[in-house]
Amino acid sequence: METKILKVDEESLALAREIIYGGGLVAMPTETVYGLGADGTNGEAVKKIYAVKGRPSDNPLIAHVHKDYDIGKLVYVEQDYALKLKEAFMPGPLTMVFYSKGVISSVATCGGDTLAVRIPSHEGAQAFLKAVDLPVVAPSANISKHVSPVTAQHVYDDLNGKIPLILDGGKCSGGIESTVLDVTEKVPRILRAGLITREMIASVAGDCVYAQHKETDKVRSPGVKYGHYMPRAETARFAAEDWKTALKYYDKQKQSGRNPVLLIENSLKDEVGERNVIFLGEDAKEMAANLFYDLRAAERASDLIVVVEPRGKGGVYDGVMNRLTKAAKKFDG
Ligand code: TXA
Ligand code: MG
Repeated sequence: METKILKVDEESLALAREIIYGGGLVAMPTETVYGLGADGTNGEAVKKIYAVKGRPSDNPLIAHVHKDYDIGKLVYVEQDYALKLKEAFMPGPLTMVFYSKGVISSVATCGGDTLAVRIPSHEGAQAFLKAVDLPVVAPSANISKHVSPVTAQHVYDDLNGKIPLILDGGKCSGGIESTVLDVTEKVPRILRAGLITREMIASVAGDCVYAQHKETDKVRSPGVKYGHYMPRAETARFAAEDWKTALKYYDKQKQSGRNPVLLIENSLKDEVGERNVIFLGEDAKEMAANLFYDLRAAERASDLIVVVEPRGKGGVYDGVMNRLTKAAKKFDG
């Protein structure tokens, strides 16, 4: 099948609507990463998402709706703090998990009793969701386990020939996926860290904790148990304080004939000399915005990615570190 990349406009939206109502898939821009959307009420359409991505069938999908859509049609909003969070952070990079009313296909919820809901703020996403005016379930628009896509070209690189349409809304400004928050209980629990931070949520909801994922737990956010964000080049991760070891490792590999690239925060600019470097950014937000873009640039250009963790902690750094720890194993000599 031919994969079209079209700017978001009246014509492309009409085509997108036709595809979605016909049970097909459309890739859409959001402020976090690109999503691969289908009609959430159509089980056969949703199955295509899993097939195209090679996604494990027990990892549920997020339902995306436009800002005027009544989410009460899809889920039970039981906690008062959830309404406050919706008011404060939606539309935006926050996904909330509620008990489902069963409107969305069980293929998307993997037979579970909960549904994750998100209202993206990206103009192109809003226009698309408004045009279809139904809940669109969408995972990130990459092949499963690969780095998430933050440009239409990234989506094309992974899914060319497998989907009919990519709506091009430019480079995603957020750069890492939404915060996934369980709001079914008294205290909100973060299942996946993102741009809406624990601190921001606690300031509105009174409290907020990170879910503790232990081996013995019934996994509440199945996505956390799989390999993720893996570049297609060998990648070695070093702790912030081990940056000198990282430079030595880079040099040794270079001498042995490899073509390494260093990913490192801007604050170490003066230390890296003539090495081949991609700078991740000045602060956590910049690093989040650049991370997947840079990992994809690095895997195209090199056969070895040497990444040094940022020094900062808390806030958006938690989301950046979460992605990095999954993208690359810690270097252990
Ligand atoms: O920013 C985002 O969230 C992007 C854009 C496209 O909206 N979407 C995205 O989807 O990252 P995906 O499928 O790549 O990640 C969804 C995460 C997974 O970790 C999944 O396990 C979790 O959300 N999730 C989905 N439904 C859930 C549910 N009912 N309960 C717990 N976790 C859920
Ligand atoms: Mg994903």
